[in-house]
Amino acid sequence: MNLNRKSIRELFDLSPGTCTSAYGWVKTRRDSKGVSFVQLNDGSCFDDLQIVIEAGTLPEPELKRVTTGACVRFGGEIVASPGEGQAVEFKARELEVFGEADPTQYPLQKKGATFEFLREIAHLRVRGNTFGAVTRVRNRAAWAVHQFFQSRGFQWIHTPIITASDCEGAGAMFSVTTNLELIEPLEGDESERQVAYRLKSSNPEDDFFGKPAFLTVSGQLNVETFAMGLSNVYTFGPTFRAENSSTSRHLAEFWMIEPEMAFCDLEGDMDLAEAFVREVIGDVVAFCGPDLEFFNKRVEPELLATLNHVVNSPFERMTYTEAVKLLQASGENFEYPTEWGSDLQSEHERWLTEVKVGRPVILTDYPKEIKAFYMRQNEDGKTVRAMDVLVPRIGELIGGSQREERLDVLESRIDELKLPKPAYWWYLDLRRFGSAPHAGFGLGFERLIMYLTGMKNIRDVIPFHRAPGQADF
Ligand code: 4AD
Ligand code: MG
Repeated sequence: MNLNRKSIRELFDLSPGTCTSAYGWVKTRRDSKGVSFVQLNDGSCFDDLQIVIEAGTLPEPELKRVTTGACVRFGGEIVASPGEGQAVEFKARELEVFGEADPTQYPLQKKGATFEFLREIAHLRVRGNTFGAVTRVRNRAAWAVHQFFQSRGFQWIHTPIITASDCEGAGAMFSVTTNLELIEPLEGDESERQVAYRLKSSNPEDDFFGKPAFLTVSGQLNVETFAMGLSNVYTFGPTFRAENSSTSRHLAEFWMIEPEMAFCDLEGDMDLAEAFVREVIGDVVAFCGPDLEFFNKRVEPELLATLNHVVNSPFERMTYTEAVKLLQASGENFEYPTEWGSDLQSEHERWLTEVKVGRPVILTDYPKEIKAFYMRQNEDGKTVRAMDVLVPRIGELIGGSQREERLDVLESRIDELKLPKPAYWWYLDLRRFGSAPHAGFGLGFERLIMYLTGMKNIRDVIPFHRAPGQADF
């Protein structure tokens, strides 16, 4: 059945007179005198196919089962549409109901359900306009990411998800262990039963990996090893952070793209980041027109104008020090102070990009105290060759840097920060043997999807979100 089946997207391209079948889920049904209209969608495109059912054509008992949410096949004919908005519609002659959806129970009935409510029925929101559009944009963006790198000769590296090192030194990691045992007391009725954990062994050496292990926060350190042999490489995979921040821009599980280039400095890194963001956005704008128009109409009125603007104009670049001066002179009443040396908060990032510059900004040369140990130190002894790409509405989209390639400088930084040096033996080997200047960055894929769709909560741009207290589905 499947390989010959035409999707609704394909049906729209058929000429009137073609006899075929249309498969999908019923969005809405409207009955008027002598005729019923069904909006049918299978997720292959934004637009619903309008099915026209003339009275008496289909058996009434079967037709009764065609309600919102039901899964059906109509056999019939593509016809020119007299109505506005679509070139063709579908005249039904046959009906097969695969699955009913009891109208008194089906949760996705109401128009205008809130995103919060839809999140609670994440298994069904897939069928709605918004999440269908998010998913198609996400798919196309992922394709465009690979296309961008592959067309430039970057190799895709599959870095491990389980790791024993903490790349960012941030300490917000999930443990991976088989050392926990769930104890379920047998007393009490099922709903009240308290479960508890027990450590099987107090010795980490008895654990699965013989030492503490975690879900990775970044593939960077691993991918650097591949840059020191294959030159231009990238990762694209899931990463995990146990930050206990329930914000609209943080997830516990998110996807990150991390390119790394040998023979590259911070300038080259910024050039890559800018070309990357602009090209991926340009591709999605070109291929996801109807989805983006929907977001533009219903979610973020400035969306298309913003995206087109980003594709066509260069990003602003300034140092962290310049940005702090601008913030201090802004006259704004920020919640957090803007002193040199403190990390920029999202209110600062948004002011810089939304109010001051009006397009994406790349900030460089941050104080070394607020950045990771591996960033290349500047001559001033105070700052490092870091860069963050900030965009309107989102704030930080990308974080990256030129890496410290000098063994002695890197070792003293590791010592200064009291990091466990022996664990970094292989990372230091890269500087010991054939070290090369290199740079890279990480782009949070869900933040990019928020930017592309105008969606305000990061939980609504990933299939099933993981956040503090939330790991449903
Ligand atoms: O700035 P970050 O922490 O940089 C790194 O992880 C580097 N190792 C990247 C590199 O140089 N290869 O994270 C990179 C990006 C951020 O700019 C942000 O877009 C996203 O990852 N990000 C998150 N996205 C969703 N939820 C979270 N909790 C995120 N934390 C970071
Ligand atoms: Mg960062």
